[in-house]
Amino acid sequence: MRNHYDLFINGESVRGHGQAFTTYDPSTGEPLATVARATAADVDAAVRAADRARTAWASVKASDRGRILLRLADLVRQNADELARLETLDNGQALGQARGDVETAARYFEFYGGGADKLMGETIPLGPGYLSYTSHEPYGVIAFVLPWNAPLQQASRGLAPALATGNVAVVKPAEDTPMTTVELARLALEAGVPAGVLNVVTGFGDEAGAALVEHPLVRKIAFTGSVDTGSLIMRTASERVIPLTLELGGKSANIIFEDADIDAAVRSSWTAFTIKSGQVCSAGTRLLVQDSVYDAVVERLAQRAASATLGAGIDDPDIGPLATTAQFDKVSDYLKLGVTEGARVVAGGGAPSDPSLQRGNFVEPTIFADVDNSMRIAQEEIFGPVLCAIRFDDEAEAVALANDTQYGLAAGVWTNDLSRAHRVAAQLDSGQVFVNEYFAGGVETPFGGFKSSGFGREKGFEALRYYTQLKTVTVKVGPS
Ligand code: NAI
Ligand code: MG
Repeated sequence: MRNHYDLFINGESVRGHGQAFTTYDPSTGEPLATVARATAADVDAAVRAADRARTAWASVKASDRGRILLRLADLVRQNADELARLETLDNGQALGQARGDVETAARYFEFYGGGADKLMGETIPLGPGYLSYTSHEPYGVIAFVLPWNAPLQQASRGLAPALATGNVAVVKPAEDTPMTTVELARLALEAGVPAGVLNVVTGFGDEAGAALVEHPLVRKIAFTGSVDTGSLIMRTASERVIPLTLELGGKSANIIFEDADIDAAVRSSWTAFTIKSGQVCSAGTRLLVQDSVYDAVVERLAQRAASATLGAGIDDPDIGPLATTAQFDKVSDYLKLGVTEGARVVAGGGAPSDPSLQRGNFVEPTIFADVDNSMRIAQEEIFGPVLCAIRFDDEAEAVALANDTQYGLAAGVWTNDLSRAHRVAAQLDSGQVFVNEYFAGGVETPFGGFKSSGFGREKGFEALRYYTQLKTVTVKVGPS
């Protein structure tokens, strides 16, 4: 780990004009490193560097761009231990989960490195006398504004398809977790990504983030984070008339029918709301359970919660600290609200009493039973290890409850009835549906929201289309 993280602009470490800030270890509250604070002038330098690199990078043969990204995948893997440690220290997540994220980051560069030369256009049958075809062209400078829950993985998820298709990028990582994104940019340069193609401006949302999305040379925005900030950024994009991808929050339903494999459902439903201490946009945080199995499922999850280990991410516990003190305060408030709203606490409910955990942002994995779907704890994104268990009678009620939310990012369905699985999947207002394994899928599967969870798609081959604009060329070739 470095003592200080600079901005990364045009292939070089740059001090920047702002007063450096500190990034902290959320398990202890101790400072980890100082970080350059990008001002609007620094953001301008980064965007201009990207814009200067734009034409040359777009002209590189697609298979050559792909080969560079494959080298970056190798370098991410070669540095996996160090990257995972850094991510864990900065963001708090359990080391094993951080290792998983580093491997996923490598997979993004591998998948889109391989995909770079496979995004094809179409020919359009206009009939004799004309040749008409489409091609996918890069936008130019893409602004990435990213959150703190899975920093390296989210940066890689966007950068890999964007760079593969010939775009250039300026990334603004969250102020709370900047370290691994800066390291990724260094590795990209080492892999052969030309200077200026990938720039990182560490700093704050209302300063560096705002300057970035407002910059006149930015041609597309990709934002992951809260609905409020997403909506604000969309207003900026609307004034500038540029496209954006919004990957926002969720309140995803995980539906267990009585005919399901209950052992598997309990195991996976635990992971669904506790991975990264619940700080996952697609977490399964509303557990809908059919009446006849409701008590047994809730009881078994409560037992699992009672035996959960809490600790610093570096010790690879079940539950690490929340990434920020603001998030700790927010989750703590929701834990109190759940009791006020009349939910029954069957596990957890507050901060742990263990004296060794008092300085970190720790909350116990918490299960609220007897939750009514209209309660605020069932409607609002909490973003912590907090589960709302809700009872239902039949399939129609399960679907109605699952869809009774402003969000639509993910949903889980547990059943051994093949027809029911597809029938329910078809009725859910959700960008993805996992059947008989929550989080089933990978970098290959398109990902994004319905409703207030956002729009645009990341992951999968689909992302290559979202980072390109379509051009149609029509030629009169016939006799005039
Ligand atoms: P946020 O949406 O404010 O922050 C995300 C990113 O946006 C950060 O890089 C931040 O610096 C930047 N940003 C903030 N204000 C900006 C502005 N005016 N212009 C440009 N960029 C700006 O999220 P926050 O406040 O850290 O978390 C609040 C809640 O958002 C969480 O409790 C959770 O519910 C949700 N969230 C959802 C995430 C997801 O993966 N969909 C990730 C992180 C948070
Ligand atoms: Mg914020």
